[in-house]
Amino acid sequence: MKIGILTGGGDCPGLNSVIRAVVRKALNNGHTVIGFKDGWKGIIEDTTITLDRDAVSGILHKGGTILGTSRTNPYKIEGAVDRVKTTFRKTGLNALVAIGGEDTLGVANKLSQEDLPVIGVPKTIDNDLSATDYTFGFDTAINIAMEAIDRLHTTAESHHRVMVVEVMGRHAGWIAAHAGIAGGADVVLVPEVPVDLDEVCDMLKKRHARGRNFSIVVAAEGAQVKNRDLTKDIPVDQFGHKILGGIGDYLTKEIEKRTGYETREVVLGHLQRGGSPTAFDRVLGSRFGVKAVELVENKQFGQMVSLRGTKVEAVPLEQGVARLKTLDMELYETAKVFFG
Ligand code: F6P
Repeated sequence: MKIGILTGGGDCPGLNSVIRAVVRKALNNGHTVIGFKDGWKGIIEDTTITLDRDAVSGILHKGGTILGTSRTNPYKIEGAVDRVKTTFRKTGLNALVAIGGEDTLGVANKLSQEDLPVIGVPKTIDNDLSATDYTFGFDTAINIAMEAIDRLHTTAESHHRVMVVEVMGRHAGWIAAHAGIAGGADVVLVPEVPVDLDEVCDMLKKRHARGRNFSIVVAAEGAQVKNRDLTKDIPVDQFGHKILGGIGDYLTKEIEKRTGYETREVVLGHLQRGGSPTAFDRVLGSRFGVKAVELVENKQFGQMVSLRGTKVEAVPLEQGVARLKTLDMELYETAKVFFG
């Protein structure tokens, strides 16, 4: 069989582990593999890379994706879906493995409903995809955020400051909650739970009154604050997502104004997506890649690989993209035990 692979959406530590696993398993079983460059753009424009054993040698530990990525949506570009179909025909593809988050897999799902042989591999540092317990990249992101919070603790304590740490997560607070619990945050703000900023400041004041004269506030980039004036036009990407930013800055200014405590901000941003994947993400990526080839061989098109408990299974792509997996409120309640 001739198998194509692409990586779409935001990059994510562990993508190369998946690519390597797909190629190694496919070659072992006598298939050939080609990579499309820069997500759906590569299949629209038919720009490919041959993926032989040499091409995937030495990439397991590397962040990013050797295929490149983009947030291109063929359903938003005139004639692009037809060009995708033409590339399928011209290259004689028997299957495509699309590695991506809700947007990339949303396109994969639509194409598979148009009878193209597509398999999905779920990826996002945000961990907000349904039908899988975890996505690779998330573990690396929370470890990077935890380490940053550990470092910020010592400087916050020395200067008796409030440090606001903005982490990724525009619609889901998984990174904020995990990094916050692991890093010992004093407050965690997430998109799912709008907060009253005066209540947050009261909590900080009580903490400081107890003699703990520094605090760490972790906020997801999409954290909701009640009565915040968001009248500014926010730009959107091709998938209609707001290009966020600014919650850390807002909180820093407001907390300083309302409490009188010196407050500083750190936006972790793309640091959370860069660099080497953790062992967990390398293993999960490898397991996902191997399973994806199994699905291709069994012609289980329209399915994606998924982690359920400790098992890697197949689930319909439709289930993965039906809705976002927002933060488990039980986990948020656990984070709240440590507030203040
Ligand atoms: O979806 C992954 C993610 O890292 C989000 O957490 C973040 O909001 C977004 O991508 C940032 O996108 P970009 O890299 O296009 O700025």
